[in-house]
Amino acid sequence: MNGWVAVAGLGPGNQALITPEVSAALAAATDVVGYFPYVARLPARPGLVLHPTDNRVELDRATHALQMAAAGHRVVVVSSGDPGVFAMASALFEAVEKGEKGWNRLDIRILPGITAMLAAAARVGAPLGHDFCAINLSDNLKPWALVEKRLRLAAQADFAMAFYNPRSAARPTQFARTLAVLREECRDARPVIFARAVSTAEEAIRVVPLPDALPEMADMRTMVIVGSSTTRLITRDGVPWVYTPRGAA
Ligand SMILES: C[S@@+](CC[C@H](N)C(=O)[O-])C[C@H]1O[C@@H](n2cnc3c(N)ncnc32)[C@H](O)[C@@H]1O
Repeated sequence: MNGWVAVAGLGPGNQALITPEVSAALAAATDVVGYFPYVARLPARPGLVLHPTDNRVELDRATHALQMAAAGHRVVVVSSGDPGVFAMASALFEAVEKGEKGWNRLDIRILPGITAMLAAAARVGAPLGHDFCAINLSDNLKPWALVEKRLRLAAQADFAMAFYNPRSAARPTQFARTLAVLREECRDARPVIFARAVSTAEEAIRVVPLPDALPEMADMRTMVIVGSSTTRLITRDGVPWVYTPRGAA
């Protein structure tokens, strides 16, 4: 059995942020599986079969990739950013556990990518320079009460916070609730970074104090980073630098 499956991160958008390891796997692949906008980022070439699918079929997509690898194909499953961050790597292992006996012996590799949180943080300086946490604000796969509990505890523990999936047409109210919870817990004017479409032609970065943050500032292409109580601003022309010092009292 010479097949393999690699779950690879394509980074936040710019081709220059795809790792050489991921590029090598794509060059060796016979098949690419993934959510269609991510598959569309790859150039077609002879000998490579593209399998774009809808976003809501993660487990089916992972199962299909494993079936092809078991049949001898060299399969790359693509995610944006890093495949282990709210993405396909977990779905693949879920499919291994639920799937056919013997899939645990398949050649499976997880190839890291630059996650949106780190690409967004780098644009404004070093807001995640001290302890931080990452929270997926979507309540599609978990109850909202759990999201809110984690938000409150993270704010009370004074973590900087990075929010994935902040707001969508199907979830119009949750991000407003997020901002209300943060204002209640933090009671200060710490910076909030809205980093949209980082590293693409549509990139837009904005930094506002927490009391001025509005739900409309985020959409599904936005990464939101909220500083801790020690996060600082350095003004300059345009978007300020934001950093969190290395030490805390
Ligand atoms: C399902 S998560 C996937 C995260 C991805 N695996 C990663 O590591 O970046 C999708 C969310 O990532 C964030 N995101 C992905 N690409 C982005 C980019 N280029 N700029 C800003 N945020 C991005 C947005 O919050 C979006 O709603």
